[in-house]
Amino acid sequence: MPRYSLAAIILHWAIAALLAFQISVGWALEDLGARGFALYQLHKSVGIAILALTLLRIGIRYWKPRPAKLEGGWQGALASTVHGGLYAFMLGAPLTGWALVSTAKVKVPTLIFGIIPLPHLPLPASAHGLAEGGHGLIAWMGIALVLLHVAGALRHHVLMRDGLIWRMIPNRSTALLIGLPALILLGFALGRVILPVAAPVETAPAEQLEAPEPVAPEASTNATEPDNSTVANETVAQVEEPIGPPPAWTVQPGGKIGFAVGNDGQTISGSFAKWTAAIVMDPDHPETADIRVSIDMASASVGDAYQDGMLPGDEFFAVAAHPTATFTAKGAEKTGPNAYRASGRLSLKGVSKPQTIRFTLSGDGATRKVTGTATIARAAFDVGNGDSSGSLAPNVAVTFAFTAKRKP
Ligand code: HEM
Ligand code: HEM
Repeated sequence: MPRYSLAAIILHWAIAALLAFQISVGWALEDLGARGFALYQLHKSVGIAILALTLLRIGIRYWKPRPAKLEGGWQGALASTVHGGLYAFMLGAPLTGWALVSTAKVKVPTLIFGIIPLPHLPLPASAHGLAEGGHGLIAWMGIALVLLHVAGALRHHVLMRDGLIWRMIPNRSTALLIGLPALILLGFALGRVILPVAAPVETAPAEQLEAPEPVAPEASTNATEPDNSTVANETVAQVEEPIGPPPAWTVQPGGKIGFAVGNDGQTISGSFAKWTAAIVMDPDHPETADIRVSIDMASASVGDAYQDGMLPGDEFFAVAAHPTATFTAKGAEKTGPNAYRASGRLSLKGVSKPQTIRFTLSGDGATRKVTGTATIARAAFDVGNGDSSGSLAPNVAVTFAFTAKRKP
């Protein structure tokens, strides 16, 4: 039985799996809002890759002609029509997608896989509705065609047993007979699992906890991204696609992180003189927030020379072995008009545990005042484990207040 060329076979299954991934991600895009920025870029990148692979595949079809048709008559004609329809789907889906982003009111730049800028097609804005409707519809037509196509393949394999399927499977390998179609399911499943979760709790990966210096997580920004602030609010409401990643903020000098703990009817209170914070957060979409605070534990002071001398020791912060404490949170939740809660992880004195902080924002625009609190169960971090700590209350109240300015 003559077979398709290996290049044609590889492209057949690769494109099929990528299309499944695209549909899976595409259906989720509109519900994601600003959280979906990176995913929109990925969807557009993979879509254009499919367009390129399809053009390559069509080129190969002429260079290495397909094996002769196995079946004539109306069945053969139907198979050819479905194949034609599938090519139309493979070209039409990316082209309508490209057209819809090219005609949107706010033109969001596309960087294919973060590298190659995708130009906008010179189409009139009036074509937007058609492109958008077509893009959604074409996916459904594609699904219908694929179902027909698979039914045809099954008919040959199960009913007619004519070995047609092996034309698209290398080496008559049974493993590939199962594995290659399974790639399509895998592509669809992958599109589901990479969707950002609404309010992730405890998602900080291990290496973040260890990182002593937080880095501003701005990986997805680049020179071509538009500035949020240049787009008027009413336009934003009409944008179908998020216009940028959530904004990053810099903490202004003069901020404070303080702590207080009861001690035998009195309160010992102090603060950390040195700390840094890398904050990425859109107050309207707190679920995309990325908060990383790093505290220099040697900078702790309670304003009393004797007690300050004890803090770096093993009974309290063990500064020599654990010079920094970090708090990291991915995602925050709105709990009131200006109030938020972020559940993340605190790494302190070599122990890493879930920790929640609460904060409020005041002001608007590019400058916000942040004030917040956290209650830390000190025993969990082995803080205050000796003779001097017998009368210390179990919970330490941490408070923070600072001004943050949005990065341009
Ligand atoms: C190549 C195959 C592609 C497939 C199978 C595909 C499929 C889909 C699907 C099923 C949706 C959801 C539509 C809806 O529910 O209304 C969607 C949405 C979207 N797609 Fe694609 N897409 C592809 C390529 C592209 C490309 C190349 C671009 C842009 C360059 C693109 C841009 C978009 C945008 C911006 C949306 C959001 C929907 C909207 O705003 O109406 N897609 N896609
Ligand atoms: C489980 C899923 C699939 C199976 C079992 C399958 C199987 C096959 C087989 C056996 C052929 C060769 C037909 C022949 O020799 O006449 C073929 C051709 C083809 N398949 Fe699929 N396929 C699947 C999914 C897809 C998908 C998702 C697409 C694209 C959307 C696709 C597009 C095509 C096209 C366009 C051809 C014709 C190639 C040509 O002659 O130029 N297939 N497929």
